[in-house]
Amino acid sequence: MSDPFDFERPPLRYAVIGNPVAHSKSPLIHAEFARQCGIRLEYTAIQVDPGGFEQAVGNFRAAGGRGLNVTLPFKLDAWRYADRLSGRARRAGAVNTLKFEADGRAFGDNTDGVGLVRDLVDNLGADPAGRRVLVVGAGGAVRGVLAPLLERGPVRLVIANRTAEKARELVAEFERVGALEGSGLDQLQGSAFHLVINATAASLSAEVPALPQEIFAPGALAYDLMYADRPTAFMIWAAAAGAARTADGLGMLVEQAAESFLLWHGVRPETKGMIQALRREAERTQ
Ligand code: ATR
Repeated sequence: MSDPFDFERPPLRYAVIGNPVAHSKSPLIHAEFARQCGIRLEYTAIQVDPGGFEQAVGNFRAAGGRGLNVTLPFKLDAWRYADRLSGRARRAGAVNTLKFEADGRAFGDNTDGVGLVRDLVDNLGADPAGRRVLVVGAGGAVRGVLAPLLERGPVRLVIANRTAEKARELVAEFERVGALEGSGLDQLQGSAFHLVINATAASLSAEVPALPQEIFAPGALAYDLMYADRPTAFMIWAAAAGAARTADGLGMLVEQAAESFLLWHGVRPETKGMIQALRREAERTQ
């Protein structure tokens, strides 16, 4: 850890890189974690045009940058950029955290999946272990969370996607990690799940995947990886369709940030207070 009182040295530089990135909560979250842990750092947001990732990272490193969070649409670029990958980044095929080592190499990690699992287990009391889990979608977001979910030991894990073929491709790729099934959205009749995770891009356009109404087991949690200042279209639909509880991805956002913070600074910040504060702030600005 750096000496927080050494004001002679410039602060450690970190940033989130993506497009769009202007409304990212990551600068706020990391600044608060740093305050909490007594670390002096500067954390900014860098917007980059498609195709400009490598150049932008080079510029940031030349200016003394120590690490980056990477968000859409650059998680695959970051995966390619990294000289070394963590096991979870390798399994995810995507990188959301880069750490620039003293020897000049870039270490790539993926903290999205562990962030989701921590939010489910520690904050929401919804451990996937021994439960029936449905993951909706088959894009990059699903790729990032599948292995950590499977490692938790659900009794059944189904990936359902509008384009069933893509779900089946993910099954072929991840069945080494644990047993899972793939299907189309319309092949779920007769199945009820304790945890339904929406990992589609549908919420971005206020749409809801065409799921059957009766997919929620008693006590089920409906979880949207997206977060917004108000309940997402998926959360509203799920509550009406019988989900006992709904949650958005704000907790996952904070937990993945905490895991990146741990990688960079060797200390894990407290997250529960941060999630509550961000939730209160969102309610206040509604
Ligand atoms: P991301 O990296 O955010 O996961 P992506 O790779 O573009 O984004 O994947 C988007 C996912 O959302 C896909 O699973 C997509 O389904 P298709 O594979 O059938 O395209 C899903 N999706 C997007 N809009 C949807 C909608 N309105 N209803 C259902 N699924 C939708």
